[in-house]
Amino acid sequence: MTSSDFVRRPRLLVTGASGLLGLNFAVQAAGRCVVTGVVHHNELAGVPFEAIQVDLAQPHAAADLLERTRPEVVVHCAALANLEACESQPELAWQMNAAAPAELAAAAAQAGIKLVHISTDAVFDGQRGNYSEEDLPNPLGIYARSKLAGEQAVAQANPQAIIARVNFYGWSLNGTRSLAEFFYRNLSAGKNVNGFTDVHFCPLLVNALVDLLLKMIEKDLSGLYHVVSAESLSKYEFGCRIARLFNLDETLITPISWRAGGLQAQRSPDLTMRTAKLAGALGQNLPDQQAGLARFHELFVNGYAQKIRLFKRLVV
Ligand SMILES: NC(=O)c1ccc[n+]([C@@H]2O[C@H](COP(=O)([O-])OP(=O)(O)OC[C@H]3O[C@@H](n4cnc5c(N)ncnc54)[C@H](OP(=O)(O)O)[C@@H]3O)[C@@H](O)[C@H]2O)c1
Repeated sequence: MTSSDFVRRPRLLVTGASGLLGLNFAVQAAGRCVVTGVVHHNELAGVPFEAIQVDLAQPHAAADLLERTRPEVVVHCAALANLEACESQPELAWQMNAAAPAELAAAAAQAGIKLVHISTDAVFDGQRGNYSEEDLPNPLGIYARSKLAGEQAVAQANPQAIIARVNFYGWSLNGTRSLAEFFYRNLSAGKNVNGFTDVHFCPLLVNALVDLLLKMIEKDLSGLYHVVSAESLSKYEFGCRIARLFNLDETLITPISWRAGGLQAQRSPDLTMRTAKLAGALGQNLPDQQAGLARFHELFVNGYAQKIRLFKRLVV
């Protein structure tokens, strides 16, 4: 898919179009592509793309979907992305995060459809950090293990696919899907929250992630890429920067160690990833934290956050 293809508005299928990434992707791409968004439960209203309902956990659903919609590009954002839900429903986690991507990848390869598959920084155990695409994953927990199995199955069935390991934040349909929204919501309500000083990551604003993925499609990249911010920080620092941007009280954030946080689940303290491979392929540096957070704030000020929330169909 070249830049001239974008002039004639290619047909794009986005799965998970009610999720944090999928919805922002579908909304942002709708001006440049003819977008069909796939949702499962969440009903959308007034979105600038066609939305269809499909349960991708059903066998053959992914292949049937491609047959029915015949896109030129499919961006696969749907997943069972909630860690607790994966632990309590392991079969569904494996079906959604490993079997469905495998089926989609094979069907896309057969039909000559470009696939972008979304994976996660959580394929690493977070013991070392600064991971490159060459480093050996060691996933902890069912979410991470099923996501790694998904990316491996996609790579095998469809070598032309882009596999993007991500970590992102932004404005979501329910206002509750990202860590940035968590800090914004609680600090705005004057509530105390904890911020881990020893958990490091490279979160990227979801809208910047969409821009990068569209460039990767345009350049017809394939293979595995880390698509995160070029700059890492602790979760505590991330919260403080949000507080400062929105003029909220950062002393409401208690700096603590994850070890003191009373969490039962195994933690991955350092999920920082290198972005040199993608920077080289695109000929540009990936955004730093200042750029992403300033845009996050600007999207709030100019009404984008509220617009995203209004896409939720109210059940009466
Ligand atoms: N959020 C992060 O920071 C992060 C970090 C690393 C990787 N990722 C990856 O990024 C991708 C997108 O994550 P996200 O945070 O945007 O997820 P999300 O907000 O939880 O959204 C998940 C999406 O998947 C859909 N879905 C779930 N089960 C389905 C089913 N059986 N059939 C069809 N659709 C189904 C949901 O539809 P309904 O709403 O209609 O149920 C929703 O649109 C995932 O692959 C995730 O693993 C996310």
